[in-house]
Amino acid sequence: MDGARLQISGLYCGYATPDRGIVPTLDGIDLSLNRNEFVSIIGPSGCGKSTLFNVIAGLLSPGSGEVALDGKEIVGKPGHVAYMMQRDLLLPWRTVLENVVLGPELAGRPMVEARNRALALLRRFGLEGYENAYPSALSGGMRQRAALLRTVLCDRSVVLLDEPFGALDALTRATMHEWLLGIQREFQQTMILITHDPDEAVYLSDRVYVATPRPMRFAGIVPIDLAYDRTSDVTMTPEFAHHKRQVLGLLRGDKGASDALH
Ligand SMILES: Nc1ncnc2c1ncn2[C@@H]1O[C@H](COP(=O)(O)OP(=O)(O)O)[C@@H](O)[C@H]1O
Ligand SMILES: [Mg+2]
Repeated sequence: MDGARLQISGLYCGYATPDRGIVPTLDGIDLSLNRNEFVSIIGPSGCGKSTLFNVIAGLLSPGSGEVALDGKEIVGKPGHVAYMMQRDLLLPWRTVLENVVLGPELAGRPMVEARNRALALLRRFGLEGYENAYPSALSGGMRQRAALLRTVLCDRSVVLLDEPFGALDALTRATMHEWLLGIQREFQQTMILITHDPDEAVYLSDRVYVATPRPMRFAGIVPIDLAYDRTSDVTMTPEFAHHKRQVLGLLRGDKGASDALH
């Protein structure tokens, strides 16, 4: 399914507490993605990143603001985007195949078609021969690829990925980055990734949105000027190092990093 345009404007959100009143989490979030773009959001732990994803996915209604998919308002309406939540676990009592077809199954779609599609994609996700294996038999990287396949099989044009590689070792992560970029290009999806790894953000993205501590705003947006068809070699270039410095500067709150503002 082709990527969609996602437009987010003026999102404010907070939660009620018994003693401190309303605690703000999102403090005026604007974010706009064109079809098939890949953007990352990077920011300190607890700043409100997962909250933003819950709002985009329609699971949480914001105090105010708009989320539009190809011009259609989707605030408070779940089911329009594919969402791989933070710590998105595979069900241990289900095989890989039974896990990855969960989206179509929950949506009540025809299972024969969903299974055939999943079987055809297992190889691309490095899971060929593991369709009848249980999650406990998989490596960490394979488990994350299975969770990603489950997300892709939800057949939505916008995909939200909340720290999908957080628990993997550095080497597995680097391999997964190249692979994910290939998947995004091949399946033509609009993707938003939450991460706290600046290398991951710069390597994968068309733009990196750098978030402030809670309540979350964007301290700046770093446009990534690297070739569309990139391989991990690009991480050794001066351009890559320059973008990484821009991201780190904004994360630290440096005034001098403001030339990275869009
Ligand atoms: N409904 C809520 N009740 C209590 N705490 C909340 C609620 N919503 C968000 N929070 C708090 O707001 C902060 C931001 O959460 P989250 O979006 O998960 O941050 P991040 O994903 O950036 O680490 C966290 O400290 C979380 O505990
Ligand atoms: Mg989070």
